[in-house]
Amino acid sequence: LLEALAGDVESGRLAPGTQLPTQRELADVLGVSLGTVTRAYAEAEKKGIVRGEIGRGTFVTGGPREEYGAAEFELGTPGMIDLAVVRPLYGLEPDLGAALRGLARRPALSELLHYQPNAGMRRHRAAGAQWASRFGVDVDAESVIVCAGTQHALTVALTSLCESGDTLLVEELTYPGIRVLADLLGLKMVPLPMDDRGLVPEAFEAACRQRRPRALFTMPTIHNPAAVTIPDGRRRKIAATAAAHDVVIIEDTVNHLLADEPPPPLSVYAPETAYFVASLSKAVTGGLRVAYLIAHQRAMDSLTRAVWATNWMTAPLCAEIAAAWIEDGTADEACARKKAEAGKRVSAARRILSDFDLRADDHGHHAWLTLPECWQSAAQFAEEARRAGVAVAPADLFSVGAAAPAAVRLALSTPRNVETLSQGLGKLKRLLGGPPGLGAAIL
Ligand SMILES: Cc1ncc(COP(=O)(O)O)c(C=O)c1O
Repeated sequence: LLEALAGDVESGRLAPGTQLPTQRELADVLGVSLGTVTRAYAEAEKKGIVRGEIGRGTFVTGGPREEYGAAEFELGTPGMIDLAVVRPLYGLEPDLGAALRGLARRPALSELLHYQPNAGMRRHRAAGAQWASRFGVDVDAESVIVCAGTQHALTVALTSLCESGDTLLVEELTYPGIRVLADLLGLKMVPLPMDDRGLVPEAFEAACRQRRPRALFTMPTIHNPAAVTIPDGRRRKIAATAAAHDVVIIEDTVNHLLADEPPPPLSVYAPETAYFVASLSKAVTGGLRVAYLIAHQRAMDSLTRAVWATNWMTAPLCAEIAAAWIEDGTADEACARKKAEAGKRVSAARRILSDFDLRADDHGHHAWLTLPECWQSAAQFAEEARRAGVAVAPADLFSVGAAAPAAVRLALSTPRNVETLSQGLGKLKRLLGGPPGLGAAIL
């Protein structure tokens, strides 16, 4: 049953969003026991082929989970312009050589090779508090845990908070990294609707009442992939609802520092119920693998245990470099460089795709392109774009709801320069101008 289902999804016989028969209907039609169908549906859900929605039924998702990595593969394809995977403007990072030479002159370096407390060395936690202040979050070092990147911070937060079977609320379009993590931990993801101002607070309130969630994962500033920023009023409402229902907010703000004067993080309004991740990844560099997880004192013991369980500690050498860059202003300079370059790229994208529905923050690394009506399927557009030499990320990769919208994410920061980006966007423009199927003829 599982093989037949997977085969039909792969061949396209069952399109994304298709509702499957109820388990009882299928058992009756096939003359097998209900338990057999239940197991097959559960396996298919684990593999990411289908997704069950309480009270609605079971739906075909965008395809097997292996698709998450597909865009990575495209990068290595000669001649392919990669707008699929967001690379945070390589080449504009701080000078690693200078940092290492500076470190080499310091005495007592070998302490960086020693085991350190799970939450990080005192001065690295203090640097994390300093970095959090750039986001408008005012904490002391005791509230900071040094993690090996945002993804690790999310792992630490969710493992310490949730048990298998718990409900995690997410935006209906969400970051694929949270999907793999929720799968790994056996969490049930429940999608919440968004509009052009981000997560809808009333929907969050209703889900808190009806679903008894453990936590909400949200990206309030320059959402990935939808590129929306939740306005201040909504943030206050979401924070108040979370506090009233004792739901933890896990706030991922990797893009926060790229925005011009974004509203304060949700954590400012819900300091007791929010976990905040102060990331270096998009504004400075992702390869250093350092992020700071900030939470209320009450949560510190269980979060520290989760670091112990997953990583013992973040590499002190990496945390040392991050601390030096934060303390001497190098991190801020890198962020300013990246914002300036991203601004040029966003302007180019707005100019080239001016006839289309493109949403981007002024200095964001990605844009969200809603396809014209003649394109009903993001996956089909992505496939035709790939054939034309441009990789894009279809909405299916981010969608937790039943049917993904006809939209794609464009990684503006990934091409080597504005010229290559413009070339890729030009190809997309030509493709968007005609109905599906014409791409090969035009290009
Ligand atoms: C929303 C979001 N969260 C987390 C990450 C991962 O960050 P890190 O490299 O710090 O683990 C990314 C990377 O693209 C992201 O877009």
